[in-house]
Amino acid sequence: MNDLIDKQSSVPSYILAVETSCDETSVAVVKDGHVVLSNLISSQVETHKAFGGVVPEVASRKHVEVITLMLEQAIEQSGIRPRDLSAIAVTQGPGLVGALLVGIVAAKTLAMALGKPLIGTHHIAGHIYANRLVRELQYPAMALVVSGGHTELVHLESEGKFKLIGRTRDDAVGEAYDKVARALGCPYPGGPHVDRMASEAEDVVPLPRVWLEAGSYDFSLSGLKSAVLNALNQAKMRGEALEPSAVARGFQEAVVEVLVEKAVRAVREYGSRQLLLCGGVAANRGLRAALQERCAKEGLELVIPPMEYCTDNAAMIGAAAYLKWIRGEGTDFDAKADPGLSLEAWSVQSEA
Ligand code: KG4
Ligand code: ZN
Repeated sequence: MNDLIDKQSSVPSYILAVETSCDETSVAVVKDGHVVLSNLISSQVETHKAFGGVVPEVASRKHVEVITLMLEQAIEQSGIRPRDLSAIAVTQGPGLVGALLVGIVAAKTLAMALGKPLIGTHHIAGHIYANRLVRELQYPAMALVVSGGHTELVHLESEGKFKLIGRTRDDAVGEAYDKVARALGCPYPGGPHVDRMASEAEDVVPLPRVWLEAGSYDFSLSGLKSAVLNALNQAKMRGEALEPSAVARGFQEAVVEVLVEKAVRAVREYGSRQLLLCGGVAANRGLRAALQERCAKEGLELVIPPMEYCTDNAAMIGAAAYLKWIRGEGTDFDAKADPGLSLEAWSVQSEA
């Protein structure tokens, strides 16, 4: 634990947060864990498009190019003087190690120069607490995390206490969307294209639902992705062409049905007071609509952050870091980037 940080629940806090775990560089200043004073995001997606996916070395270099200027601008836009910042938070993992390292070096340097505490933050805790930027959270809560790198169901017994109850055994949902999109001839990132095609489709290619063993909250996406590729290949061998929109719709319906069923079953079993949707795939219209309809029918409260807080951003890292700040739980300055950082181990240690 870092001795620069004390239990601080009564004074306003201004946390500067840095996120560089993948292909977005982002810096934010967040007041009291939920008021966003600035949140700058520089996306590298155009650079990586040419390669059909994120190239780790290129991502690190791009973070280095913009991080210093973004730190300056995020502080300036927030209207907070650097000396009035309470702490410096940074995504410590999971993510691409070289990309994480850029944010960590920048955050440590700033924290040391200003004499502020450092708070190494879990990226998925950030995605989950993006919901705190728009709503007061009620516990126990259930989070459905769906992004390019993660597909998880996380039970929050109380504030900052994470228990992973289900995860993908192979591809993440966003990753499967991107692979199916590529097979349908769409550019990277393909998720939004598949979503749009699915909503325009008149027909549907039926595809399997992957439930795994009875009672399991895990997911598996690679079999479904293979079923899509097989359907396309078999049609080609027969000299026919499948309507891409019908394939997109079949894929989306198969994904959404399993996500919604498992999330709602988890909410029931754990007595969750809210279902929190988060991650880049939370932008998916089919998923949002199906969850909204199902939750309304069952009388469950569903929280979905606005798009800017669903995709990678530093405001969500500031929101998660606040959990540690109010409990005086800082991070040592010798902390390293940790691509395998455990969410459960990152849980808060004490009551606020
Ligand atoms: O959370 P995110 O921005 O980055 C990660 O931390 O992974 O998620 C990006 C992923 C990409 O795979 C992208 O294709 C997917 O989210 N995505 C979508 C949609 N918008 C973004 N997938 C399905 N439907 C969408 N509308
Ligand atoms: Zn993410």
